[in-house]
Amino acid sequence: MRFDIITVLPGLLESPFAHSILQRAQKKGLSEIVVHNLRDYSLNKHKNVDDYPFGGGSGMVMSIEPFAACIEKLKGEREYDEVIFMTPDGETLNQSIANHLSTKKNIIILCGHYKGIDQRIRDIFVTREISIGDYVLSGGELPAAVLVDAIVRLIPGVLSDETSALSDSFQGDLLDAPVYTRPAEWRGIKVPDILISGNKAKIEEWRYEQSLERTRQRRPDLLK
Ligand code: ADE
Repeated sequence: MRFDIITVLPGLLESPFAHSILQRAQKKGLSEIVVHNLRDYSLNKHKNVDDYPFGGGSGMVMSIEPFAACIEKLKGEREYDEVIFMTPDGETLNQSIANHLSTKKNIIILCGHYKGIDQRIRDIFVTREISIGDYVLSGGELPAAVLVDAIVRLIPGVLSDETSALSDSFQGDLLDAPVYTRPAEWRGIKVPDILISGNKAKIEEWRYEQSLERTRQRRPDLLK
């Protein structure tokens, strides 16, 4: 699966994909993440990518031409399933959106800045607008990294234990049960006996009950 991320701050996206699972997925050839500097597509020698808003008001608006040039170049090279714009007024990202997007082949992600992007980019090129939550960040780069992480870990073969993505919180309707590792006792605090009993059936039952209780307490809305 290929992601093309268009941004004015490519440096912000150098590190998130260079570690752990996301790095491994790229090394295994299961995902490819290409970051494009929007300024390379600027029409003027100052490499501007924004301009004053028509009608006045504070803040700059990202111009249509650099985005159009970059998107059209990419579309000339391959077909894209989605052009996603990261924005706080998009639909809120959840597991079901991530699951759906993990079945796609090529995705372009646009990162906004300043006051926003020219509405015509959204009208003409964007197929989907996604928010990562009801708060405003300085730009779309961190949201883009969150989206790519949520998708890539679902691609078959990316996680070494394939079932582990399936048992994640939110993948079913329940949150995860608590987990423990050695030592079995630390400062007098013991791991629940059942987990060291070796009784697989009882352990599964305990985990299910814990999941249910945690969901009831923290996210009762998931049980409806
Ligand atoms: N850009 C700024 N804030 C954002 C958010 N919460 N989600 C997606 N993109 C954003």
